[in-house]
Amino acid sequence: MNSQHMTSKGTPPAVPSVATRHDHDPLWRPWTPIRPTDDAALVIEAGEGYRVRDTGGTWYIDALSGALNTILGYGHPALLKALESQVQVLPHFDLSVGRHEPAAELAERLAGLMPGDLNRVFLANSGSEGIEAAIRMALDYWVARGESRQRVISFAAGYHGSTLLAQHLSGLPFTGTWAEPFPVSRVELPLPAAELRTTRAASLLLDAFEAELTAADDVAAVIVEPFINVGGGIVLPRGFLKGLRELCTRHGVFLVIDEVFCGMGRTGRMFGFEHEGITPDIVVLSKGLSGGYVPISAVVATDHVYETFAQERVIGGLRYGHTTSGHALACAAASAVLAIMEEEGIVANANAMGARLLSRCEQQLSGTGVTDVRGIGLITVVQLEAEELAIAVEAGLRARGVVLRRQGDTLMLAPPLIIDEQGVDALVERLEAELRAAAGDAG
Ligand SMILES: Cc1ncc(COP(=O)(O)O)c(C=O)c1O
Repeated sequence: MNSQHMTSKGTPPAVPSVATRHDHDPLWRPWTPIRPTDDAALVIEAGEGYRVRDTGGTWYIDALSGALNTILGYGHPALLKALESQVQVLPHFDLSVGRHEPAAELAERLAGLMPGDLNRVFLANSGSEGIEAAIRMALDYWVARGESRQRVISFAAGYHGSTLLAQHLSGLPFTGTWAEPFPVSRVELPLPAAELRTTRAASLLLDAFEAELTAADDVAAVIVEPFINVGGGIVLPRGFLKGLRELCTRHGVFLVIDEVFCGMGRTGRMFGFEHEGITPDIVVLSKGLSGGYVPISAVVATDHVYETFAQERVIGGLRYGHTTSGHALACAAASAVLAIMEEEGIVANANAMGARLLSRCEQQLSGTGVTDVRGIGLITVVQLEAEELAIAVEAGLRARGVVLRRQGDTLMLAPPLIIDEQGVDALVERLEAELRAAAGDAG
């Protein structure tokens, strides 16, 4: 117990000094260094449309969509109404005991949007849990078939979540190291991000995956994101996913597509894999699925995968689930999001606004310390000469009323998919002004 709280009966507790404030803060934030002073932390208290407001009353363009998930922005009336109606009727009921309408409706909707026989929808709460379920499906499938296949092939720069299993799939430096629960082959990117958009890059990448597929005889699945998010904001070359689909089919292994960030319109298509016209074996969705209003993820698998779990050897189906898997409130929110997306043409808006954002950045940011501008749909990545510059620009942009995501030397612009032309233009103007100011050229 904190001694200041214990002595606070008669006298109000003294405000902790800046130097010791972290000793008294009960909130342990994720992915955040614990510093003696946390003064720089934003305290966001409200949002409206594509903007958020801090406790000091300052409004910011939210160029990171909350946690890359508030795709419909803040305070969408139809989404609020769906949540209110559902919570009054039924918050949740255990899907391992029975069924409920919100989960059934969501599964129906998602299956209807997926290509081929991607018809079976499993629900969880976070992207990481969805990834765990997907990998469990892929590994248990081979157990059910009586084959010893446990290896997963991924990108070393891929990021699939922060549970231990999901971190194990990644080779990023901040992920944990421990004894392997199953073998993973992690493919390194053969070229820097700025050079990865050519046909040559596609064949280099495919050669690297083929080498791993050929080297091992125990591969169960390959998992990739259609756009590498945390690992550098990397746009993959055209033809890569298509080629990877062909390779997986040829080697008889599953292709798992991590659409946690890319899915739900972010790339200018409903799902990122649609750009290449492929049908994966398993797809994982999360972030935008409920518009960021309630945690949820979905794993969509083919009939073939599902039916294998009906066989005798896999008694009990998929031995995986959480107390709140398929939470009724979250399902109702997700169905509302899908309905709103259709009614309001959200994917088309993401495509149009994304094209505007990318081209404005390309045109307006040259000569400002920018080394590469790349993007897909409503994701624009601006890579700068140095990480220090990116840190300074991130801070300066906050003072100009923009919050965004910085990863190393890159700034990522991924505003809510409902953003309009005015919002996009304001975002680029502020970024340009800050970059020019940082370069010592305020004009
Ligand atoms: C591509 C990708 N996969 C998985 C995850 C993990 O999702 P969650 O943070 O909801 O567990 C993330 C989160 O950023 C992600 O970007």
